[in-house]
Amino acid sequence: MLCSSDEIRTTLRDHLAWWGLKHFSSDRDYFAWQRQRLSSEDLKRLAFHADQKRQGDRRDEIAFYDLAAQPKIYPVLYSQRYEYYEEIGVRTTAHLGHAKNVLDFGCGIGVLTIFYARLFPEKNFVGIDRSSASVVVAQEKADKLGLRNLRFECVDVETQSLSGSYDLVVATHALVQAEQDLGLPSQSWRTFERGGNPSQQLSFEQRTGLAIRLDRLCRALDSSGCMIVNEKTRQLARRVPFQRALANRGLQLAERPALIRYRTVEEEVEDGPFYLLRKGSQDTTAWDELPEEDGLQGFSQDAIPTAPAEPEGPLYENHQLSAQAAWEQLKDREVTREMTWEGPDGRQLHVERGSSRGLAYLYCANTFDQRQLVIVEQARSAMLDAYYQEIVDDMS
Ligand SMILES: C[S@@+](CC[C@H](N)C(=O)[O-])C[C@H]1O[C@@H](n2cnc3c(N)ncnc32)[C@H](O)[C@@H]1O
Repeated sequence: MLCSSDEIRTTLRDHLAWWGLKHFSSDRDYFAWQRQRLSSEDLKRLAFHADQKRQGDRRDEIAFYDLAAQPKIYPVLYSQRYEYYEEIGVRTTAHLGHAKNVLDFGCGIGVLTIFYARLFPEKNFVGIDRSSASVVVAQEKADKLGLRNLRFECVDVETQSLSGSYDLVVATHALVQAEQDLGLPSQSWRTFERGGNPSQQLSFEQRTGLAIRLDRLCRALDSSGCMIVNEKTRQLARRVPFQRALANRGLQLAERPALIRYRTVEEEVEDGPFYLLRKGSQDTTAWDELPEEDGLQGFSQDAIPTAPAEPEGPLYENHQLSAQAAWEQLKDREVTREMTWEGPDGRQLHVERGSSRGLAYLYCANTFDQRQLVIVEQARSAMLDAYYQEIVDDMS
C-alpha cells in the first residue's frame, strides 16, 4: 500500500509510461515528437475535430473523443495532459481510502480509472464514457492487466440513466465541457457578486448539460456518498454557478477546495478547484463565492512611480480582479467620460476615463469579472483617450 504522495506520483509516472505517455517541458521537443508520430493528415483531422468539438454539439464531441482514442493518437495527444494526470491522479488517490464502489464518470480511455483500480484491488471501479472507441481502448487495457475489479461501459448520461449505486463518484473534466460558456454574469460591473436569479442558474445548467449530468450522478450516489470533482471553472463567473449547482443538489464541501495548477507542456494552466463533496453531511465547509486574490493586492497610489519603466509604458497597469480595489482607492477621482453598455441578458461593460491627483486613468469593467486599470501622467493622457475611443467604437 502506497502512503506518501511522492510514492503515488512515482507509481503514476510508471503507469503513464505504460500507456506510452511522455512528459515534455519544451514545446519544441513535444512538437518534434508529435511530427514523428503523426502524419500531417492525422494532425489536420485532429485539428478539424477539435474545432468542431468547440462548437459544442454532442455528436461532434463524441467524434473528437473517438478519434483521440486511436492507438497512434492518444499517446501523443494525452502526453499534453501528463501533468494534469499527475495532479488529479495523486489528489484523487488520497481520497479513495474509504470507498468500496467507485464510478468514474467521463473516464475517457481510462488512464486514471485503471491507475486507481491497480492501486486498490479490493475496491470495485466502473468507468463510463459516451465515446465508444474510448471505452474499447479502456477495456482492452484493463484486460491486458487482468484487472477483475474494473469494468467500462459506454453510456451517455445525457440520454441514459445510470444503473448501480456508488459510495464515490469521480468526475474530472467531464461535467462542464462547454469551455466557451462565460457563465453567470455578476449583478453589475461594479461588483463580483452574483444575484440569486434561479432562471439564470437554470439556463447555465441546461445549456452546458450540467443539470442532467449532475442529476443522474447524484441519483447513483449513496445517501452518504462522496463525490470528487474538478472542472474548468477557474473564472468566478463559471465557478459560482457550478458551485451552486452542486450545493442545490445537497452536495456539501468536505474540505476547502484547492486550485489546481499544472502545465500542458510549456503553458501554465490554472484549473477550477478540486472539490471533495459529501452528500447529506452535517460537518461542512462554507461555499466561497469571493474572487480570488491575484497577488496584486495592496494598491497604494503614493507608490506609483513618477516616470514609466519603459518610455511608452504606463505608470501603473492592472488587468486582474484587484484592479477594481485599486480604482476604488484612487484619490479625488474625477470622471471625464464614461459609457456603460447593457445587453438584453443583463451583462454590462463599463469604460471610464478620468483623473486623480494629476494622473490620468482608464478603467474598464464588465459583468464577467474582467477588470482593467491603466494610469499614465496627464501629459500622456491622449493615449488613454485613444484607447477609450477604440472601446467605444468596438461597442457601437
Ligand atoms: C476531457 S475528457 C476527460 C477524461 C477523464 N475524465 C480525464 O480526466 O482525463 C471528457 C470525457 O467525458 C466524456 N463525456 C462527456 N459528456 C459525457 C456524457 N454525457 N456521458 C458520458 N461521458 C461523457 C467524453 O466523452 C470524454 O471522454
